[in-house]
Amino acid sequence: MSVIFITGANRGIGLSLTQLYLRAGHTVYATYRNEGSSRSLLALKTKHSNLSCIELDVTDYALIQEIGSSIDSIDLLINNAGYYGPKGYNLGNHRC
Ligand SMILES: NC(=O)c1ccc[n+]([C@@H]2O[C@H](COP(=O)([O-])OP(=O)(O)OC[C@H]3O[C@@H](n4cnc5c(N)ncnc54)[C@H](OP(=O)(O)O)[C@@H]3O)[C@@H](O)[C@H]2O)c1
Repeated sequence: MSVIFITGANRGIGLSLTQLYLRAGHTVYATYRNEGSSRSLLALKTKHSNLSCIELDVTDYALIQEIGSSIDSIDLLINNAGYYGPKGYNLGNHRC
């Protein structure tokens, strides 16, 4: 079994990947920014002892260092946190 670290895991693709890896029995470190918008992720902790949830804004570089030194080792980092921008737009800002 592997140790997976997933950023932006409270919703969207990050949450789905977290659920998939937990179901497969892997150890998952899942990060979120706000407790209020992370209820689905935090609720998974009641069912999965292989889940650790960590509060992290990926622009907080000092905290990233701190977390890095508090975790033994990971097999896979999925740095999923990010902002895609408005959806449904093409080049030149024409809505498709
Ligand atoms: N879905 C697509 O079609 C698509 C296509 C290309 C690339 N992507 C990329 O794939 C990733 C996930 O996509 P998605 O559709 O699941 O996006 P999403 O639903 O908008 O979720 C984005 C996630 O990133 C987190 N996040 C954003 N800025 C952050 C920061 N500074 N620190 C920590 N967390 C941060 C959000 O946290 P909060 O809930 O706190 O905001 C949320 O958990 C994104 O990086 C996106 O750019 C997506």
